Amino acid sequence: MSIVYHEDSKTFHLYNDSISYIMVLMRNGQLGQLYYGKKIRDKEDFSYLLETAGRPMTSYLYEQDRTFSLEHIKQEFPVYGTTDYRHPAVEIIQENGSHISEFCFEFFEIQNGKPKLEGLPATYTEAEEEAQTLIVTLKDQVTGICVKLFYSIFATGGILTRSVQFLNLGTSPVYITKAMSLNLDLPDYDYDWIQLSGAWARERHIKIRHLEQGIQAIDSMRGNSSHNHNPFIVLKRPTADERQGEVIGISLVYSGNFLIQAEVDTYGVTRLQAGINPARFCWKLENGESFQTPEVVMVYSEQGLNGMSQTFHKLYQKRLARGYWRDRERPILNNNWEATYFNFTEEKLIKIAQKAKECGVELFVLDDGWFGERSSDHAGLGDWVANPKRLPNGIEGLAEKIENLGMQFGLWFEPEMVNKDSDLYREHPDWVIQTPERSMSHGRYQYVLDFSRKEVVDFVYHSMEKILSCGKISYIKWDMNRSITECYSTALPADRQGEVFHRYILGVYDLYERLINRFPTILFESCASGGGRLDPGMLYYAPQGWVSDNSDGISRLKIQYGTSLCYPISSIGSHVSAIPNHQVYRNTPLHTRANVAYFGTFGYELDLNKLSLEEIEEVKQQIQFMKNYRGLLQYGTFYRLKSPFEGNETIWTVVSDDKKTAIVGWYRVLNGVNMPYTRVKLEGLCSDFLYRNLVNNTIHYGDELMNLGMITSDVTAGEVPSNAKPCTDFESRLYILQAVE
Ligand code: DGJ
Repeated sequence: MSIVYHEDSKTFHLYNDSISYIMVLMRNGQLGQLYYGKKIRDKEDFSYLLETAGRPMTSYLYEQDRTFSLEHIKQEFPVYGTTDYRHPAVEIIQENGSHISEFCFEFFEIQNGKPKLEGLPATYTEAEEEAQTLIVTLKDQVTGICVKLFYSIFATGGILTRSVQFLNLGTSPVYITKAMSLNLDLPDYDYDWIQLSGAWARERHIKIRHLEQGIQAIDSMRGNSSHNHNPFIVLKRPTADERQGEVIGISLVYSGNFLIQAEVDTYGVTRLQAGINPARFCWKLENGESFQTPEVVMVYSEQGLNGMSQTFHKLYQKRLARGYWRDRERPILNNNWEATYFNFTEEKLIKIAQKAKECGVELFVLDDGWFGERSSDHAGLGDWVANPKRLPNGIEGLAEKIENLGMQFGLWFEPEMVNKDSDLYREHPDWVIQTPERSMSHGRYQYVLDFSRKEVVDFVYHSMEKILSCGKISYIKWDMNRSITECYSTALPADRQGEVFHRYILGVYDLYERLINRFPTILFESCASGGGRLDPGMLYYAPQGWVSDNSDGISRLKIQYGTSLCYPISSIGSHVSAIPNHQVYRNTPLHTRANVAYFGTFGYELDLNKLSLEEIEEVKQQIQFMKNYRGLLQYGTFYRLKSPFEGNETIWTVVSDDKKTAIVGWYRVLNGVNMPYTRVKLEGLCSDFLYRNLVNNTIHYGDELMNLGMITSDVTAGEVPSNAKPCTDFESRLYILQAVE
């Protein structure tokens, strides 16, 4: 990995084994973008890549040069209105009302490693040689605003991270109304754009379209990254697929309002941008103050979508997630939410926990309803004190009983919210996000606490700390069940109201940071009505997330497949729940529910007492299986082999680092009869190893399994023989392949 500056040609070249990123200082002092893609050898001069031409109806910077128009030049940090008419990376409103700025080169520095982003989540290095960072400082002479462009290139994998810092070195305040973390001008638009979109209970479905002239974008204006669009997109060449081809993944490490946009101009240039959503964003920067944008992670892969995902998985697992749980196998849990909802007593919980323990569960999680007057979703949020009517021995007493059963204890919180019917609201009605003289909309009868205010975050921290200090809580599910409306903070002046959305999310990060510092061994699971805030920002604090409230195994095929595009398997909260399923009312067989949930953190979301003896035996085997293989399932290399978005079958696999063990998950939604024979070409095995398939006891070489494929046909191929067990809908199988000596 190296970052070099060629003085004569004024070019920067950032490269490692996989990628090159090349920029040039242009004659007007701004930074031009020359190349981003597969690694090319370094040389003195790449400035020939800066193409300029005279074109009619174009505006030029210099009277003597009818070719230099920013409209037709690929740039790193473009502004609007000084000959470029495309969307800018930055907009700054100045005291005199002007929006024009010109950020020209001042100096650069190269650092080993990667600096921290103050108050924001970001990828990190553990040793200096893991990455190198280029910081280019630009300045607008008129306002005195300095901009630092951060580029960190990791030593391995096609990983480049970007962020921007603003510093007001002028004499007057300015208003930043747009501050994208990434601008990337690509020379063509022959890409398919992939986004992960959906809604509650159907999050992160894969949507693909070809880029076209004009603007395509995804965003959130909800205050959370949202169920609707994940802060992640892929540009892939149309011929690229899961296994091969050129792919660029863009992931924003942020949990609030975001925008990811591709503007294809009519000359075929793609301008890709990612960052805080400029809608409803306006940050006042006083002299001497600085502002840091969130980080964007760019992954380039020549090995198709799987190659890109595997790079994201390892990076987010090892250099975004942190702390005690980062590398640990995750405990198998039983959560009481779908088992009881609000209808529980201590006695009932203990019964559920006893059965869970008998089956081998390691962690019992008490969900919503344990505090204040919370007997429904109308009351109690904000009052983080155990309800003595339900829990006569308090949280500590219950936790002790769970501990005595031989399990760990986990607890649900929704720290950012309050019900009107709560002591907290009665005491501090002004702590809620609300606009003066406007009505206050609710979501699930709850209101959003103003986390842009430090005293509010302090209060919530202390109430949580009090409960957690008993030392018996090993896990927290941090929920967040509504988006923000009437966004306004009564604690901020009029000209700072455009800061509230961002300050809110900084408050959330601050609370997380304080809690994980104080309780470093607690495992945090993020949640927002399922997957409403499943993003890289959250992964920095909570190494796993409840990816959807839809717990049905068949629905989860699409949700988990889509999620795996960016997020590691160790981060995917996945449970076996009851049938008929509470969201889609489907009767997915127990083995299929588990076969899907194994590719995640794994647990149960039901009362195991309600299962038959036969089912309990099956559950015991499932738990034992997960205990045996979770290291591989959660931390192995994951490959998508067949997409649920393209047909009746889904197939994925995970392979151990030494390639000696692989587990293939095979799933079929609807049953068939007299169907074609089927096989699947596996990936990631060692060609020369002989693998025993522990399920059907066959033995094959890795190259057979990868090139001619593994047979997956079953009794549905042909007529079902009278002595064979017929299949039904929602069928699934796991194939375990073990290398034999
Ligand atoms: C929404 C979550 O996604 C559920 O798992 C559950 O915790 C409920 N909230 C509790 O209110």
